[in-house]
Formats: sequence, C-alpha cells, structure tokens
Amino acid sequence: MGKVTVITSGKGGTGKSTVTAGLGAALVRRGSRVLLIDCDAGMRGIDLMLGVSGELVFDIADIINGNCPPASAIYPCKTIPELYILPAPQNVRDELSPSVMKQLTKVLKGYYDHILIDCPAGIGSGFEAAVAPADRAVLVTNAEPLSVRGCEKVRRKLQYCSVNDISLIINRFNERKFRRMGVYPDLDAVIDEAGARLLGVVPEDGTAASDSQKGMPIEGRTKAAYAFDRIGARLDGRSVPLLME
Ligand SMILES: Nc1ncnc2c1ncn2[C@@H]1O[C@H](COP(=O)(O)OP(=O)(O)O)[C@@H](O)[C@H]1O
Ligand SMILES: [Mg+2]
Repeated sequence: MGKVTVITSGKGGTGKSTVTAGLGAALVRRGSRVLLIDCDAGMRGIDLMLGVSGELVFDIADIINGNCPPASAIYPCKTIPELYILPAPQNVRDELSPSVMKQLTKVLKGYYDHILIDCPAGIGSGFEAAVAPADRAVLVTNAEPLSVRGCEKVRRKLQYCSVNDISLIINRFNERKFRRMGVYPDLDAVIDEAGARLLGVVPEDGTAASDSQKGMPIEGRTKAAYAFDRIGARLDGRSVPLLME
C-alpha cells in the first residue's frame, strides 16, 4: 500500500509544485513507483514540469465525473519511468471534495509506493480536499518571515484535518541572502517559528528551477536534485544526517 504525502504551504509560490516534482523523481531513483496528484484546480503546473502538458486529454475531474476510468487520466513522465501524474482540473469550478479524494486515493494506493499530492495555496476547500487522504504532510516554506508565518496557520489546519505527521522543507535557501536579510539568527529560528520538524533544506538552484519550468524534471547533478535525494531517503524512513544540503 502506498504512502500518501500532501505537499502544502501557507503562502503561495514557495515551491510546492517544484518540490512535488523534484521529490517524486528522487523517490523513483530510490526504486519506488510514484504518482503525483495535482490538486491545484485551475492553476495546474505539474504536467508542465514533467513535460506532458501537450498530451493531456482527461484530468482528475473526468475520473470523478465518470467520464473515464482512473487509468485514462494518469500519464507517465516520458523521461522518468515509474513516475506518473494525475493532472488537476483545468476548470476551477470542478472543485474536488474531501470524500471523493479519499475514495480515489484508496484505490490508487494499491498501485503505487508513494502518492504525492500537490496542494493549492491557502486553506480553503481545495486545501481540505487535497489534505483529506494524506497520511502525512510536508510544509514548504522559504526562509522569509511572511512565508514562515504562514506555516503556523497551515499546521493548525492540518491538525484540525487529522494530519498530525507534519514535517518541514525550507526551499530556495541561499545562505548569503539569508544572512543579508538578517531577520533570523539561524535556521533553527526558522524551524522553531514554523513549528514542524525539519525534513530538509533545498538550496536556491536556478538551473534546476528553469529546467523544471521547461518540462525537464529536476534530476542529475544539480544541487536541488541532491537535496531531494536526501529528503526522499528520509521520507522512506532512512536516517540521513541533516547537513546543510
Ligand atoms: N529550489 C529552487 N530554486 C530556485 N527556484 C525555485 C526553487 N523552487 C522553486 N523555484 C521557483 O519558484 C517559483 C515558484 O515555484 P512553484 O513550485 O511554482 O511554487 P508553488 O507551487 O508553491 O506556487 C517558480 O518560478 C520556481 O521555478
Ligand atoms: Mg504550484
């Protein structure tokens, strides 16, 4: 049975989709079969990051509305075997509900080792649907006050939705910028304010990010891929020291 992890954040634009795609690729490198579910209705992006956006016919709303069987709306990433995506509805009106998401993932869990759910920003109904089937949550923040403060609200809402296994990824970290900003004395202060245990730090990596925007999943020898490998190992329960990655 696959483990279901929702990737979430308080503030938008912290890198949820980038983390979902990058971590998905890392888990495949560890030998897993991985499904990414994009729950960001109207703003879907994972299909673009995996280079399959030109092929999409069906999406998650088509499964729910009975227009197609689940397998018809799940697309393989061409460059990474064993990485699959279930795209978000293109239409914001095709809202997903918590009960439907639970039913759907219950079936899909039988076919994958990991399911990663890319959550929409905010804590509205889209959030509740994305979080409902999750066994655990990963909060993605940048090391900036606005982003870190958002974590507290989301953490409470996750607990309200009965998701208590919550960890933290600090994304786009750049030591020099962090020091220059001078708001936090160190990363421990960021972790304390976010209120979740640290799963890993992903560095600011312009090459990996622009590859990902061009439909090439984060792989190879980029700094971000290295960080995702270590985070993937931790998600699989391995004990990997928390270095500055
Ligand atoms: N580690 C990183 N290094 C550099 N740029 C990043 C990194 N992670 C994300 N980005 C960039 O930040 C922007 C927002 O990322 P995205 O994953 O779309 O965020 P979200 O899904 O939370 O809205 C994108 O332009 C993306 O390429
Ligand atoms: Mg996104």
